[in-house]
Amino acid sequence: MAFNNRNQSLLSLIHHSERDLHYLLDLARDLKRAKYSGAVRHSLAGKNIALIFEKTSTRTRCAFEVAAHDEGAHVTYIDPASSQIGHKESMKDTARVLGRMYDAIEYRGASQDVVEELAAYAGVPVFNGLTDEYHPTQMLADVLTMTEHCFKPLQDIAYAFIGDGRNNMANSLLLVGAKLGMDVRIGAPRALWPSEDHVALCRQIAADSGARITITDDPKEAVNGVDFIHTDVWVSMGEPVETWGERIELLLPYQVDGALMAAASNPRVKFMHCLPAFHNCETAVGARIAAQYPFLANGIEVTDDVFEGPANIAFEQAENRMHTIKAVLVAALG
Ligand code: CP
Ligand code: NVA
Repeated sequence: MAFNNRNQSLLSLIHHSERDLHYLLDLARDLKRAKYSGAVRHSLAGKNIALIFEKTSTRTRCAFEVAAHDEGAHVTYIDPASSQIGHKESMKDTARVLGRMYDAIEYRGASQDVVEELAAYAGVPVFNGLTDEYHPTQMLADVLTMTEHCFKPLQDIAYAFIGDGRNNMANSLLLVGAKLGMDVRIGAPRALWPSEDHVALCRQIAADSGARITITDDPKEAVNGVDFIHTDVWVSMGEPVETWGERIELLLPYQVDGALMAAASNPRVKFMHCLPAFHNCETAVGARIAAQYPFLANGIEVTDDVFEGPANIAFEQAENRMHTIKAVLVAALG
């Protein structure tokens, strides 16, 4: 069967096959080596890519911009304040305009339905740069990073996501592990477990791929024997600030600290975080939370000693956002 990712959108990973994912990961490895060895090709010369960000970003925006520039493409960054999107023009109409000017569109916003609608009407590939439900470009970086730090076959790698088990990161880590036949665990309080529909979908995928899926409210059980412990912020972008109180109460036992890292019983276990992370009070949010909850002064979802310790590979993970997003762009448009 012919294999071709040309013009393929990346919306959730649900419609990507295991083979598609391996192809993108292999291409990302090639492009990373090419960048390090100075052998970058301009395979996107003459292409124009629109980057719509309805939520803030450091990594995703910069990864798209650098990846595009490295390959010779041009980008237009569109923030929520400087376009007509939403307040004066629907996404359906925006899609039909941008699709006539651009070769591809990245979109970060709240609703998965919006990115799906954009893809349905744009007529060009659309890449989801994060919605409330999914963070698919992050997944390629996370899997690439795991393969770079664990020399087991992919199917033998075990990882746990600890924290808000129904946010975009948890949903996506569950899905990508299911697709790739990995050992994936979610450690979260029952109130924050992924939706039954999403778990059922991932279990169905796992039945074919051989993935092992565990959802538990015991964080120590979740991390026992894993190679990687992932976490994420306890309150995601777009959630009301009042959510912090209830989230802290629910998630305090799920903070990634030295004891939880030790509970992996694996001296090689690594810590991963999509970033940004609240690991001290050097941010406005971190300081505000620490003023109200002094026991969180040394970190919220992860303690500062873990974050600053040798097990943390979150910055390698962040760099890999660029190489993997470049692979998505080159596969679709190159
Ligand atoms: N991990 C991630 O998506 O980071 P940004 O919000 O900075 O893009
Ligand atoms: N769950 C986080 C991920 C940030 C990259 C959020 O949506 O804010």
